[in-house]
Amino acid sequence: MVKKTDPVARIAALSEALAYHNYRYHVLASPLISDAEYDGLFRELQVLEAEYPDLARPDSPTQRVGGAVSEKFVKVRHPAPILSLSNAFSGDDLRAWYERIRRLDDRVEHASFVVEPKIDGLTVVLHYAEGWFARGATRGDGEVGEDITPNLRTVRSLPLRIPVPGNVKSGAVPPQAPKRLVVRGEAVIFTKDFETLNASRRAEGLETYVNPRNTASGALRQLDPKLTAARPISLLCYAIVEMDGERIGTQWEVLECLRAWGFPVASHVRRYTDIDAVVGYCAAQTGARELLPYETDGLVIKLDDLRLASDLGVVGKDPRGAIAYKFPAQEVSTVLLDIVANVGRTGVLTPNAVLEPVVVGGVTVRQATLHNFDYIAEKDIRLGDRVLIKRAGEVIPYVIGPIKGARTGRERRYRRPRKCPSCGQKIERAEGEVAYYCVNSACPAQLTRLAEHFAAVLDIVGFGEKLAIQLVGAGLVKDVGDVFRLTKGQLLELPGFAEKKAQNLIEAIAATRARLAAGGHLGRLISALGIRGVGEVMAGDLAEHFGTLDALTQATPADLQLVAGIGPSASQALADWFALPRNQELLAKLRGLGVWPTGERRKASAVADTLAGQTFVITGTLPNWSREQARAFVEAHGGKVTDSVSKKTSYLIVGAAPGSKLARAQSLGVPALDEAGLRRLGAGER
Ligand code: IVH
Repeated sequence: MVKKTDPVARIAALSEALAYHNYRYHVLASPLISDAEYDGLFRELQVLEAEYPDLARPDSPTQRVGGAVSEKFVKVRHPAPILSLSNAFSGDDLRAWYERIRRLDDRVEHASFVVEPKIDGLTVVLHYAEGWFARGATRGDGEVGEDITPNLRTVRSLPLRIPVPGNVKSGAVPPQAPKRLVVRGEAVIFTKDFETLNASRRAEGLETYVNPRNTASGALRQLDPKLTAARPISLLCYAIVEMDGERIGTQWEVLECLRAWGFPVASHVRRYTDIDAVVGYCAAQTGARELLPYETDGLVIKLDDLRLASDLGVVGKDPRGAIAYKFPAQEVSTVLLDIVANVGRTGVLTPNAVLEPVVVGGVTVRQATLHNFDYIAEKDIRLGDRVLIKRAGEVIPYVIGPIKGARTGRERRYRRPRKCPSCGQKIERAEGEVAYYCVNSACPAQLTRLAEHFAAVLDIVGFGEKLAIQLVGAGLVKDVGDVFRLTKGQLLELPGFAEKKAQNLIEAIAATRARLAAGGHLGRLISALGIRGVGEVMAGDLAEHFGTLDALTQATPADLQLVAGIGPSASQALADWFALPRNQELLAKLRGLGVWPTGERRKASAVADTLAGQTFVITGTLPNWSREQARAFVEAHGGKVTDSVSKKTSYLIVGAAPGSKLARAQSLGVPALDEAGLRRLGAGER
C-alpha cells in the first residue's frame, strides 16, 4: 500500500488529497473519485495515524469527530455583532426600502445589489486563525453565542484549513485568505439528505424528524459530536464578520473570495444595477424556491458596495444596507378528511393525513405526514379538523397542527388502529419506541415493502414497487428468498410482462445472485434483509465483525453488543429476527440457493494486504463487479489500480470486450487475470 519510509510525507499527501476530494464532493458537488476510492485513502490515513499518532494533523479528515464532549456550551463573544435583517413582503416594500436609503445617501442611486437565497438554517460564526478552523459558535443573541466547535468540525463541507500564506504546501498556490478570518454562514440539511434520513429512520422504526432546520439545529447542539456527525449537515457561507488586512470592497467579491478559499457558497446569486430588476427577480424566484436543494424562506438583497452599506448604519439590529424579501409562507390550512396507517417493511405503522386537496406553492397536496401516533395525540389533531400544513422543498408536506379556533364540535378523536390494516394481525409497540409494529412478518404489506427494499439494496435492475406488489399479490414471493426462484414462465403470466421484459428481469436477478454467491457482499445482504434497526452502516459493521452469516446467526445479544454502535435494543431486535422460524427458513433457503456471501473486511487493519505492492489495470466489462467495485477490492487488499498498462503493471484484469490495453499488456508480457482470478489473488490463493 504505502512504503513506510516517509510517513510524514504520506500523511501530509493523504490529508491534502482527502481534504481536496471532500471539498470536491461536499462543496462543489463534483467528485473526482468514487466513494470507494475516498474510503480507501481514508483508511490508509487512519492506519498510518494509528501507527504514528504524533503525526496526526489537526486538519486531518479522520479527526472530524473527536473533540471533547462538553458538559455545557461555553459562551463566545462575537468579534462584531451578528446582525439580523428587516423584512420586505412585496415589491413595493422593496422599493420603499430603496427610496429610504437613497434619501439617506445619494450614492445609492448608482449602487448595485447582490441578491442571494435566504437560507433557512442555523446561523454559525466560524473563526480561522493562521488558516486553521479554530472555533465555531452559534449566533446566540447576536453578541454572545455558544461554542460548538467539536460539532461543527463534523460538518463535511466546513473547511478545516484554508489557504493562507505559510500553510500552502503543494500544488499551484490558491488565492490566499487572511491569517485571521471570521466567516458567517448557515448550517442546513439539504432536502434530499433530510428525506433519506427520515426514510431510514422510518424503516428502522424510529421517530422521524419534523423539518430540516430544527434537525440541523438540534444536531449541532448535541453534547456529543458523534451524534452531530451522524446527521447530514451542510454549510453555506455568505459574509465575512471580521478579517485582518484590507477589507473587501463588495459583497460580490466576498462571495468570490469565500468560494476561492474553499467555503461552500450558495449558487443562484445575482447582481443587478437597478431596483426594478431586483423586484422582477424576487417575483420570479417566489415560484422557483423549490428548485434549490435546501429550504429558503426568501431572498436577501444587499448593497454590493460594503463601504456604502456600512456607512448607512444600523437600525436596532438590522443593517440599513440589506433587507430580506420573504416568500409567502408555504403554510396553508385545509380539512383533515381521514388518517390512514401505512405499513412499512419492518412492520412500522405510519399515519398519513388524507386532506381536502389544497394548492401550496403551486402544487396540489392531498396527503401529508403525521410522523407517528404520539404526534397526533400531542397536537390533539382530530378528524375533520382544519389543519395547518407546511410544504418545504421537496419534502412531503407535514401537518403542523389543528386550528382549534375553527372547530365546530363535529370533529372526532382519532383512534389508532388496534390491528394491522393490511393483514389484521396484532400490532405492538416496543419499549421506549414511538412506533407501533405489525407483528406478522408474513404480512403482505410488509412483504411487498421488504421485497422492494431487498431489490433496491441488491441493485436488481427493473425491480420496483409495482413488481413487488404484483409478485406478492400473485403469491410468487412469500419471502425475499423467492425472488431468486422466479422463473421466466411465472413472470410471463403476470400482466404487463412480455418476453423481453421477463428475460431482462431474470437476467438481472441472476446477476445479483452471482454477485452475492461470489462473496464479499455480506453487509449488503444483511442490509437487504431489512431487519428492524439495522441500517446500511450497522449491516456493514456486522459483516465486518462476524465475517459470515453462520457466525452472525449464532451470535448472542451479548456477542452482538461487542460491535460498536449496537446497543441493547438493536442487539435484541437482531437476536429476535434470527430466532424466528420464518427467518431461519429464509436463511436456509438463501443458503440452498448459494446466496451465502462472506464478509467484506472494510478496515485496512483487518485486511490481509495480499495485493500490496501490486498494480492493476482493468479493461472490458467484468461479469459481477463494476470498475469501482473492482478498484475498491484491489485497494482494500493493499493494491493499486492505474489507468494505463506499463512494464510496472502487475496484472491486467480482463472483462468482456477488452480494449487495446490487452494487446499492450501482451506485448509487454504483463499477465492477464479475469475477475475470479483477481478474487482468488486477493484471497491469498496463488
Ligand atoms: S446576511 C448584515 N445573507 O437570515 C448581514 N443572512 O432573517 C445580515 N440568512 O440572521 C445577514 N441567508 O442568519 C444574510 N444569504 C444570507 C442569508 C442570511 C440566511 C439568515 C441570517 C439572518 C437571518 C435574517
